[in-house]
Amino acid sequence: MPYRTIIEPFRIHSVQGISFPTTEEREAALVRAGYNLFGLHADEVIIDLLTDSGTGSMSAEQWAAMMVGDESYAGSRSFYRFADAVTKLTGLPEVIPVHQGRAAEWILFSSVAGPGKVIPNNTHFDTTRANVEFQGAEARDMVIAEGRDPAADHPFKGNMDVTALRATIAEVGVGNIPLVMITVTNNSGGGQPVSLANLREVRAVCDEHGLPFFMDAARFAENAWFIKLREPGQAERTPRQIAREMFSLVDGVTFSAKKDAIANIGGFLAMKDPALAAQCRNLLILTEGFPTYGGLAGRDLEAIATGLDEVLEEGYLRYRIRSTEYLGEKCRDAGVPIVWPPGGHAVYIDAKAMLPHIPPARYPAQALAVELYREGGVRGVEIGSVMFGKPGDDGTETPAAMELVRLAVPRRTYTQSHIDYVGEVVVAVAKKAPSLRGYRITESAPWLRHFTARFEPI
Ligand code: F0G
Repeated sequence: MPYRTIIEPFRIHSVQGISFPTTEEREAALVRAGYNLFGLHADEVIIDLLTDSGTGSMSAEQWAAMMVGDESYAGSRSFYRFADAVTKLTGLPEVIPVHQGRAAEWILFSSVAGPGKVIPNNTHFDTTRANVEFQGAEARDMVIAEGRDPAADHPFKGNMDVTALRATIAEVGVGNIPLVMITVTNNSGGGQPVSLANLREVRAVCDEHGLPFFMDAARFAENAWFIKLREPGQAERTPRQIAREMFSLVDGVTFSAKKDAIANIGGFLAMKDPALAAQCRNLLILTEGFPTYGGLAGRDLEAIATGLDEVLEEGYLRYRIRSTEYLGEKCRDAGVPIVWPPGGHAVYIDAKAMLPHIPPARYPAQALAVELYREGGVRGVEIGSVMFGKPGDDGTETPAAMELVRLAVPRRTYTQSHIDYVGEVVVAVAKKAPSLRGYRITESAPWLRHFTARFEPI
């Protein structure tokens, strides 16, 4: 088409109202929630960019598939349709359904990790890190240097630093590395993609040392689209062909179907190794359920199977990646520092650059996230020292590498005018950046503290 505007490639068939809390109501909600945006009621939020996880809008085809869900306890037809869709896409024969991605992580790391073990990853997502550490193992991040610099322009800022991977193998020994993992796209590092070339390189290192290679594929389709756009020689291939090649390079996958299966719940663990799969299924039965439903209803398995297909449609991916980029451009054009280029599912505002007067120990990204809500009812999420800071025994904390606020865009849920509004709110907050103050934590849990911590303004 000769037009510049990439329109939403869908018509809206069913709608949900948005509530519009007043300024006073938002202030009261913040106080009640201890300035933790996870503590807000969703009805207190105007535009909810907390996450793209499980918040997408399903298609009419997905809803229709749910109606034919087979709810048999064992051997459900919906399971076979689901397992078939996963195997066709990934080439992996062992498919274990789970209720969401972190359940796949728990089962996998309970099976392979333990004290003294090290798991390399470009960047562990928070639940992945927590599941590795819960087993007493070390979660080691080794994204390329550009991936840790919000302003560095690089087409594949999610790539793994292969030199660091080799150094880790030499340092801790092959016997202490149960598997190497890579996260596509690299959510905690700005939603940045990993190239096919990098996946091949990591595969080659794993082969040299006989190490299994696993992929956290939560956003595999967005990653495939970036490869099509940015990797030399890939422009003519379909996203499906690219995704198949990505999966062909790994021995196993953890997957949250709440992202690139455009489902509201679900996930899977898939792999080649039948012996490891048998061990994982034993754990699955303890916590998730029988191996042909794994904590999901038959109808959920149907929605995922359909979603895995839809998410690779070119029209969808073109719109999807462009709409995130559009928000990123609005921020950049207003002089708001963001991780550049914008990620696939989210724009990440660089709070360290925007609020240089607030030190990491006073959580600048938390201050910014709170202000976006206070100003315009926009809910993002802190990805900085609240999420990844390491509290020491002496009351001090090692800060996170970056202080970011993520504005995650749910799939097929908001329109361009919603995004225009968010852009205006970001700009308004940027104007009063020098007046923002930091926060201190008054209460926190030992694991994943960002979900429940309470704060007070300084
Ligand atoms: N891996 C990645 C890369 C993720 O982004 C997530 C979830 C998970 C694993 C865990 O999956 O939620 O289904 O258990 N990310 C969400 C987010 C929560 O907001 O980025 P889950």
